[in-house]
Amino acid sequence: MRNQSQGDRLNQEQIDKYNNYREAVIPKYTTAQPKEEIEVSSEYFLYKKILEKDKKQDLRICNVGALYCISEDYFLKKRPKSIIHCLDFAPFIKINKEFEQPNLILHPGYPLDAIEKFARESNGYMFDYVIFARAATLINQNKIRSYMAPISKIAKNIAFLEVAQAILVDQRKLDIRKISLNEPYKLYGSMVIHNYPKLIESFDYKVVDAEILPPNAFNIDYGAFCYWVYVMGTKKDALGNNN
Ligand SMILES: C[S@@+](CC[C@H](N)C(=O)[O-])C[C@H]1O[C@@H](n2cnc3c(N)ncnc32)[C@H](O)[C@@H]1O
Repeated sequence: MRNQSQGDRLNQEQIDKYNNYREAVIPKYTTAQPKEEIEVSSEYFLYKKILEKDKKQDLRICNVGALYCISEDYFLKKRPKSIIHCLDFAPFIKINKEFEQPNLILHPGYPLDAIEKFARESNGYMFDYVIFARAATLINQNKIRSYMAPISKIAKNIAFLEVAQAILVDQRKLDIRKISLNEPYKLYGSMVIHNYPKLIESFDYKVVDAEILPPNAFNIDYGAFCYWVYVMGTKKDALGNNN
């Protein structure tokens, strides 16, 4: 792939590219954002789903590619006994200074390193949920499997909210379930659409919720063709035992 290295990890040049992007987009967010806006943002969507589905107060959540933690801050006000670990490349700490609190734990650095360390050091499910919000679209098929292997050891549930161009430009409908695991559907640059249901099933998760959301589902409009795919899965051996 043009913009991605072939191994497990991006190289420094690629990481720098994301860091430049971050510097450009962060000023557009603000803690002064009205709470109605947060509620209908794509960043918060998976937290909203978790709140609806799971009444456990002391949830342990990990967000891969979290970037700016306004949604985490908002979620933790609703579930103050929960803990969220956020993973992203630097300059993560600087970006999120305003959200400093003991139950929001930031892991700057390569997210896969943090995930692999969790898997080495935990003996069992240390997270109720590992989530990806608009991040897996940027991760190719080999890299996403490198994430999934350790995640499947440490997360009872996994959830994705990602870009899905569900109606193609020529009006054909894209069926996510028909996308090959080895050849994700290519979007612009190095963006891809994975077959998320099949991906998580191949790591022993059962799909417990899934939806294709229309372009106007969130507060930011990415254009008429930009649908969204939401998938949540529970590890088969944790089904019925989500405590
Ligand atoms: C579009 S932003 C989404 C940020 C946030 N989750 C949200 O919904 O606003 C994508 C994030 O994915 C991260 N990312 C890109 N490639 C990654 C990779 N290979 N592994 C983990 N995170 C990655 C980027 O650093 C970036 O912060």
